[in-house]
Amino acid sequence: FEQGTLSGQQVCITAGPTREAIDPVRYISNHSSGKMGYALAEAAAEAGAKVTLISGPASLAPPPRVELVRVDSAQEMLDAAEKQLGNCDLFIAAAAVADYRPASVAEQKIKKNNEQMTIELVKNPDIVATVASHPQRPFTVGFAAETEKVIEHARGKLERKKLDLVIANDVAQPGIGFNSDENAVTVVSADDQQRIDQTSKHKLARTLVELIAQRLKPNN
Ligand code: C5P
Repeated sequence: FEQGTLSGQQVCITAGPTREAIDPVRYISNHSSGKMGYALAEAAAEAGAKVTLISGPASLAPPPRVELVRVDSAQEMLDAAEKQLGNCDLFIAAAAVADYRPASVAEQKIKKNNEQMTIELVKNPDIVATVASHPQRPFTVGFAAETEKVIEHARGKLERKKLDLVIANDVAQPGIGFNSDENAVTVVSADDQQRIDQTSKHKLARTLVELIAQRLKPNN
């Protein structure tokens, strides 16, 4: 494993959903399983990298030889990512971060006394954009789950968040993406795009790691 395409590289990967507390017993979250991020962590470790996996709540076993940092909320995920920044050559954001969180967390369980209730939400920090705008930024890779104009939206994300690569998947296609065991993606960079046909997330992760490793070399 020491001779792999990522040997000597330190890789940080975010994965899974985040949970945004409403009160002591409730939260807002999403259906992300964490499968893609965990598969990438496993593939990067197999390619010889030292991997830190920053994971929101997911019911997956951590891959062997991967350091797992468990977090709950987007803010905790950002804190963990910033703590790793100094020893991170490559950052891959595969987490499905909740876009919004409740403006305040109720101290006690909210009672169902009213027919209607409103929860005010505020925007969460963008973790991958924060990492990419750091002065000593690692090579930064993001995901884009889109239902239309997939490449166009991915390219927008690449520019807006200052990413090196965006891995775009069309979540409108049945049988791939969120929660599924298979995925098909297009890898978008400033000067190029490359389609990877539908396959298991494990095979896809190995292909993506090889592709990223090729791009990483000239930068280091
Ligand atoms: O903007 P959007 O959520 O579609 O961007 C997706 C990419 O940005 C993913 O790589 C995701 O992990 C990352 N992201 C993030 N922090 C957020 C929102 C998204 O790191 N708050």
